[in-house]
Amino acid sequence: MTKIIAVVNQKGGVGKTTTTLNLATAFSTLGKKILVIDFDPQGNATTGLGYVDKNKAKGSYEALIGDIKFQDAYQQTSIPNLYLMPASIHLSGAEIEIVGLNDRERLLEKCLRGIYVFDYIFIDCPPSLGLLTLNALVAADEVLVPLQCEFYALEGLSQILFTISQVKKNFNSRLNLQGIILTMFDNRSSLSSQVANDVRYHLKEKVYQTHIPRNVRLAEAPSFGKPAVVYDFKCQGSQAYLQLAREMLIREGKLAA
Ligand SMILES: Nc1ncnc2c1ncn2[C@@H]1O[C@H](COP(=O)(O)OP(=O)(O)O)[C@@H](O)[C@H]1O
Ligand SMILES: [Mg+2]
Repeated sequence: MTKIIAVVNQKGGVGKTTTTLNLATAFSTLGKKILVIDFDPQGNATTGLGYVDKNKAKGSYEALIGDIKFQDAYQQTSIPNLYLMPASIHLSGAEIEIVGLNDRERLLEKCLRGIYVFDYIFIDCPPSLGLLTLNALVAADEVLVPLQCEFYALEGLSQILFTISQVKKNFNSRLNLQGIILTMFDNRSSLSSQVANDVRYHLKEKVYQTHIPRNVRLAEAPSFGKPAVVYDFKCQGSQAYLQLAREMLIREGKLAA
């Protein structure tokens, strides 16, 4: 069974792309076959995997509007078991282009129907709850929410939870909040701990035990076109993402505790 996971938070800079790339790579090192769909017009997941020519690359936009077959829109990366569907520059106009279509929320779902070759498909969403994110939520089985440990985190979270419940009611009854990942956790800041405690208090077991520390290696890695898990396997940030991947698999019953 392919599990489709949308990585969603309407705020920018909270760690969606970093989480997508490092979690995807961590899963691939555990022997899972993974596709990353770059669904953000900024194309950070695409550059973060070393694709510099993203203006020419065909990818998620072309697949979404049916210009090319889904299977022709992704390619293998230099990392074993990891495939990427890049974001081309045209994705930035997609929301306006598709807004008039009857099935505008279901375009990605239709593309993904019958795609069984992957164990997991991660969709790296843009920082908004617009039509692209809606397409991702309608196509997905699960939602992962990276949450930066800062003051406004909880406010943004209630908006995402509301959106998930609306999508579930109106478009995709199987949608499930898989979990919340606390990102950029700063050990020395009492605010980080306070926010983490608050989020855990309200959302209990939906919050992963593993949190992602603030770690400069995670921020450096994209400039080398590699996920941190490949760029510096041993650094704290990479180890946290590997631990998170194990925690997710244990929760799914796919790995012994
Ligand atoms: N745990 C972390 N520690 C340090 N820097 C991080 C961490 N996670 C992300 N970053 C950096 O913060 C910025 C925003 O992260 P990113 O994953 O691109 O967020 P988003 O996709 O939500 O916009 C990037 O420059 C990224 O390299
Ligand atoms: Mg991003």
